[in-house]
Parts: sequence; C-alpha cells; structure tokens
Amino acid sequence: MAGSYFLTTAIDYVNSAPHLGHAYEKILADFFARHERNLERDVLFLTGVDEHGQKVQQSAQREGIEPAIFAERMGVRFQRLYASLGVDPSCFVRTTDANHKKVVREWLQRLHDRGEIIFKEHEGFYSVRQEQFLTEKEKVDGRWPEIFGEVIETRESNYYFPLEPYRERLLEFIDKNPEWIVPAFRRKELLGALAEPLADLCISRPKSRLSWGIPLPFNEDYVTYVWFDALVNYYSFASVKGELRWPPDLQIIGKDILIPHHGIYWPIMLLALGLPLPKHLLVHGFWTNSGAKISKSDSKSLVDPAPYVEKFGPDALRYFVLREMVLGQDADFSDERFETRYTGDLGKKLGNLVQRTLSMIARYRDGKIPNYDGFHLLPVDSDLRSDAVVEEYRRAVEQFAPHLALQAVWEFVARANQYVEETAPFRLAKDPAQAKRLDVVLGHLAESVRRLSVLVQAALPFTAEKIRAQLNLAPGPVRIEEARFGNSLREHVIGKPEIIFPPIEEKASA
Ligand code: ME8
Ligand code: MG
Repeated sequence: MAGSYFLTTAIDYVNSAPHLGHAYEKILADFFARHERNLERDVLFLTGVDEHGQKVQQSAQREGIEPAIFAERMGVRFQRLYASLGVDPSCFVRTTDANHKKVVREWLQRLHDRGEIIFKEHEGFYSVRQEQFLTEKEKVDGRWPEIFGEVIETRESNYYFPLEPYRERLLEFIDKNPEWIVPAFRRKELLGALAEPLADLCISRPKSRLSWGIPLPFNEDYVTYVWFDALVNYYSFASVKGELRWPPDLQIIGKDILIPHHGIYWPIMLLALGLPLPKHLLVHGFWTNSGAKISKSDSKSLVDPAPYVEKFGPDALRYFVLREMVLGQDADFSDERFETRYTGDLGKKLGNLVQRTLSMIARYRDGKIPNYDGFHLLPVDSDLRSDAVVEEYRRAVEQFAPHLALQAVWEFVARANQYVEETAPFRLAKDPAQAKRLDVVLGHLAESVRRLSVLVQAALPFTAEKIRAQLNLAPGPVRIEEARFGNSLREHVIGKPEIIFPPIEEKASA
C-alpha cells in the first residue's frame, strides 16, 4: 500500500467573487492531489469557503440580504468555478457546516477548561476591514496604512488566547523542522515575527457588533473570531469515512496569511491542544494583472478566470498558472502571456505532436500502431525511449516546483517533435524499402504520445483523457510509472485524431 496523503488549501472568503489568485491556489492543490493519486496514495484533499465574519456580514448588508443567503450564493460560485477547472476535492468545506461549528465550540471549550482563555477589557483602535485591533506599532508615518481601511476607536471586553507561553516551543519546532515552511525564505520572515513577545489573540467578537459567527460555548453573547473558526476547518473536515486523518501532509496558503495566521495562530492552537503540526506549509506568491495587484477591493485589477476557461478550456488556464508561476514567487498575468503559452506550448508543441502522430498512423498504417520493437534502433530512437523525463518530473514535484516538472515534460515534447523532423516519416512513407523503419518511427511517436498522456495527467487532466481517447486507450487516471517507455501499443488500433487546442482565430468564429 502506498499510504495516504492529506492536503488542504486556504478557504476563501465569500465576501466577493472568486478571482485568479483563488483559482491558482486550488489548481495547485489539485495538481498535487492528482499527482499523489497517481502514486496510488489514498488522498484526502480539502478546499472550500470561509463563510463567517464581518466582511461577509457587511457584503450581505449592502445587498440587503441575510449573511447565510449571501454566503450560500457566493459559495456556489466558488464551487462551480473550481469544478469547471477540474479541481476535484474530496470534500468542499463550508464553515457553516453543523459538524464544523460543533468542533470549533469543542476546541474553544477545551482551551477554556485548561485555563488558556482569559477575559479582559481592551480600549483602542480597530480596523473594520482587517477585523483586528491595532497598536501604535502598526502606524506608518503617524497614520494607519491603507490596508486597514476604516479605523475606529472602541472599548470592548473580549476573550483572549495568550500566545506568548507557546512562542519558545514554536521556535523550537521550526528549528527542528527546517522543511516545515516552503520556500525557505518565508521561514526566515516567520522567525523574524517570532523574535518578539506575542500579543494575546482576541478570539471573540461581541454579538452586538457582529452576529454572523459561531457563538462561544462559554458565553453566547459572543461569536468566535473568524480566523479561529476558519483555521479549525482543517481538523473538523479531516475525516475519511468517520476516521480522523491527522496531521496534514501539505497545507497550501498565500503569502498574505502566513504571518500571523498560519505561521503563529494555527501552530499555537495545535500546540495548546496537544495536536501534531502539519508536515509542510507551502506558501505561494501573488498574481498581478499586467503589473497591477489583484485585489478584491479593486475591480479593475481582478482577473475572472471564467471567460478564459470558456474560451480556451480549463487545461489552458491550469497549464498557464502552473507553468508560469515559480512557486513561492509572484507572477504576472496578461492576455498576451496567456495566449503565447496557449498558442505555443499547447497548440504548436503538444497539440501538434499528438495531431501529426495520430494522423500519420491513420494515413500510413490505417490507424494501427505498427510493431516498433525488436528492430535495429538508431540513437534518435534511444533518446526518445529514455525514462529520464519521469525521474525529472517526479523530483520537481517532490520539490514543490510544478513549473520545473512541466518544463521537463515540454522538453520531452520538443524532443518528440524534433524526432519527427529528424526521422522524416513523410519521406520514409514514399520508399517501400523503408517500411520497417517507418514502423519504428511511428511506433516510437505513438508511444511518446501515450507517455505524455500519463505525464500531463495531474496538470492537464482533460487533455490527458482526450489523448487517451484518441489513442483508444481506457480512460485514466493511471499510475505515474506507466509514463515509462514500453511496448504496450504494438498492433493497437487508435481512435479518431482530433485537434485538442484549436488556434485562437478559429475559436473566436466558432
Ligand atoms: O485569506 N494571488 O481568504 P481570501 C494569489 N479566508 N493568491 C491570492 C491572491 C492573488 N492575487 N489573492 C488572494 C482568506 N490569494 C481566509 C483564509 S484559511 C483558514 C482562511 C489567496 O479569500 C490568499 O493568499 O482572502 C489565500 O491563500 C486565498 O487566496 C484565499 O484568500
Ligand atoms: Mg485575502
């Protein structure tokens, strides 16, 4: 048995519509989930939406509807977008789920029973947008930075979870687990944030100010702070057929929610409850739109993934984001870059290889893949038979570098296209004395296309299936090991060749 694998993503606020940043993170997680399944692991993959809190309550108020209805409607949009992208979680998390609410209350009660929760009055400045109290330290040049939005002065009694008693233990954990945070430069940022004493975390909001949340079990006049509620999702949904899976192998988040949320609050909550910490926190960078920050508060900068999915297909967007972003760093989206990848990598390289291979087999061999083994081989053939691409691909995925994994696959695509130029099957077909050589060439090309259908499964699941269908192979997914060179296709009859990535002009008029 290859074991199990448990991965999660951030759960998205439903206060406004999903954008490219949200889609990217879920595609990334789906890529790893599919990869692990192709290694025959029993995968638990969680993603979903964060429904409570002030932002959602305010957005609902603006529309004049109940937060529950607003959250439900918006949540459906996230779920539909992810489904259209082929993102296939084991379960779509919603924080209004009854069991989740129960677990949040249990955690709070347990912390309260252990004396980890204190009640005190606080007077100070509060950011409505960030839902947090501010200290003078957060001022820049004597003013509250733009990201805090409206800042009000309030005085409030609340429940607090003191974090400072756990700081040393967290530092120790980070020291002993240097691989915990990926990429490594984020660990240094976190260590910086942990260099000073930690303030108590306010875990409640008075119902008079915020009603859209989970009531505290020990005082129903308060609801739970949305971040405490949201982080618990990773645990409250971590079951398969009633059996708890813990800890997660991989938690994927964006760079804005490492400090303090996933790098400080989350591990300290787990330490206080005596639960193991996740094995890896993978922190991705941000997408910009033609240089501008993509943000919910700026509708011009938003990239809505839906039109791209509709026009180019889900795999075009999946490929673009996985190939274009160096995991951990920021990347820029523009129509020009998108179309360059689509036309070049997908259309002219992969699409063309599949198309020309299958049509030559149809034309020269009546759709039957000839025997391609047991003949005299040339060095070009041996190149194409190499399994190095499988090793490179796997190594890159293990190192959380999907862009490098895809780069290795596309080098293989380039080699196969080059093989067509070098072996010139159209010329061989004209010479009856070259019939056996043509068999070898067509067979090696068909086998390369089959191997590619395995290598692109995690990144381009729809394309993998299309290629398999055109080769007349049983639908996948299949084990990654099947990407190695073999002879299974001899005498195999292919299906009908079809264009996978149509040129952009044709699409527009269709
Ligand atoms: O933070 N590029 O939700 P959220 C890449 N509910 N990723 C981006 C991005 C961009 N331009 N903009 C946002 C929340 N993201 C909380 C999470 S988890 C227990 C609770 C990423 O909707 C962001 O970094 O604001 C985060 O990982 C995810 O989208 C959801 O952001
Ligand atoms: Mg955000």
